[in-house]
Amino acid sequence: MEQRPAPAHTPVLLSEALKSLGVQPGGRYIDCTIGAGGHAAAILDQSSPGGQLLGIDADPAAIEAARQRLQRYNESALLVNDNFVNLQAICIKYDFFPVHGILFDLGLSSLQLSSGGRGFSFQADAPLDMRFDPRQKTTAADIVNTAPETRLVHILKTFGEENRAHRIARAIVQNRPIATTRQLASLVEAAIGRGGRIHPATRTFQALRIAVNQELEHLETALRQAVELLGHDGRLVVISYHSLEDRIVKQFMQKEARGCVCPPATPVCICGHTPRLKLVNKKVITPTPAEIELNVRSRSAKMRAAQRLIESDPPLPAVADNPSISFAEYRGWRSPALMRNIKTVVLAA
Ligand SMILES: C[S@@+](CC[C@H](N)C(=O)[O-])C[C@H]1O[C@@H](n2cnc3c(N)ncnc32)[C@H](O)[C@@H]1O
Repeated sequence: MEQRPAPAHTPVLLSEALKSLGVQPGGRYIDCTIGAGGHAAAILDQSSPGGQLLGIDADPAAIEAARQRLQRYNESALLVNDNFVNLQAICIKYDFFPVHGILFDLGLSSLQLSSGGRGFSFQADAPLDMRFDPRQKTTAADIVNTAPETRLVHILKTFGEENRAHRIARAIVQNRPIATTRQLASLVEAAIGRGGRIHPATRTFQALRIAVNQELEHLETALRQAVELLGHDGRLVVISYHSLEDRIVKQFMQKEARGCVCPPATPVCICGHTPRLKLVNKKVITPTPAEIELNVRSRSAKMRAAQRLIESDPPLPAVADNPSISFAEYRGWRSPALMRNIKTVVLAA
């Protein structure tokens, strides 16, 4: 759902994320959604001395904000402006695997939401853009103004869980072209009326943002890649902000934590699937009322964490255990089992 900006950029579920990641001195971590660098700074503090962090964000403005915030850790942080759908290629390019922990803090930041010109919110009038990455071609305006009515219905229903998708899609098609956030918000309000606390266009905006940035597809792909980058006992932690994301994360972790995944009717296991993850928390972690009070953006947050199992590998050593060897040179981490897995995924991509 639409998120209101926090007073300052405040990382959500911060202490819970650090604990679930098991951040340790000399560990190496990937923050796939570095945003303004709030979680990343805390990871670098807690992993000092010797900790390293690879930070990724699709939004160049986020990378710049993180760069400023993380200046004092200069040697320990590497920032990459890319989509996390390319997670594995990024890690291979920068020789950054295996890792002790990977964090995803999904969705958009308060920085993006409050930058009026980005079109994420109808609080300010702006062109219908909504791209995390301005180099991407398709904007929200392209979808709103060119998609067939049936596709608009599909987007609104699937990504916005909007019950009145048909009425909104019809109104959009009848009133095209639609150029700005306010135009779209007023049109949705006129089509379905007001009622309840949240603005009637909230679900429409969420749906369009997810469609523009292909958020769900990218999340599924990146989760599969993340598992391969974790060393034995490495932690995968995901904070999501709506049920669609959380469902993907939950189902992914549960499936990876299961042994056999054959259909229930199969008399003998033919899949040979072995668990690759162990759930760290059986129940989803949510913010306390005190955190929500301080940071309203956290109110819909859900965090899940899992730990990598690689039967043949010992737990990863920390970099601090061997400070004379640089990360890139530390081939000792590259156990045969891990390299086999990485190669398989890269070749299949
Ligand atoms: C909730 S914010 C992260 C805030 C950050 N944890 C902090 O403490 O400052 C989410 C960030 O993820 C980025 N993002 C969302 N989807 C992405 C993707 N597929 N690839 C890379 N970055 C993405 C957004 O641009 C945004 O900056």
